[in-house]
Amino acid sequence: MSSLGQVRASRRIVFHGLGALGVAAALAGCAGDDEGDGGGGGTDVESGTELTTTDQVPVGGGVVLVDEKVVVTQPTEGEFMAFTAVCTHQQLLVGSVEDGVIHCDNHGSEFDLASGEVTKGPAGSALAEVRIEVDGDRIVTT
Ligand code: FES
Repeated sequence: MSSLGQVRASRRIVFHGLGALGVAAALAGCAGDDEGDGGGGGTDVESGTELTTTDQVPVGGGVVLVDEKVVVTQPTEGEFMAFTAVCTHQQLLVGSVEDGVIHCDNHGSEFDLASGEVTKGPAGSALAEVRIEVDGDRIVTT
């Protein structure tokens, strides 16, 4: 009987400990959110980097390049644009390009695929443009 009592006591301690960890994690998360105002676009792609090829970018849509942290769009046929894929809300990566907008699935922000401007918050500023050129079928940063 006494060992059962000890087990119960131990569980209380464990649960209490997890609660404290949860609070610590929540506080750490808040601190991280506050650090996001440094900005800078978040893209470290060097000039001359081939991002993708034109056939990979649908007209009226785009592709999110996770490794490069760049989203390449084709608003109208033959017109290509590129923006940082780092959302201006909390610096997480946007998820997709559909229905004429770049979607950030993290909190629901949307950006115009032709300008990078915010079309729906909570993001408060546009995605920074990444300068590109089309060389044959290659889309390359400049
Ligand atoms: S990080 Fe994109 S909407 Fe929050």
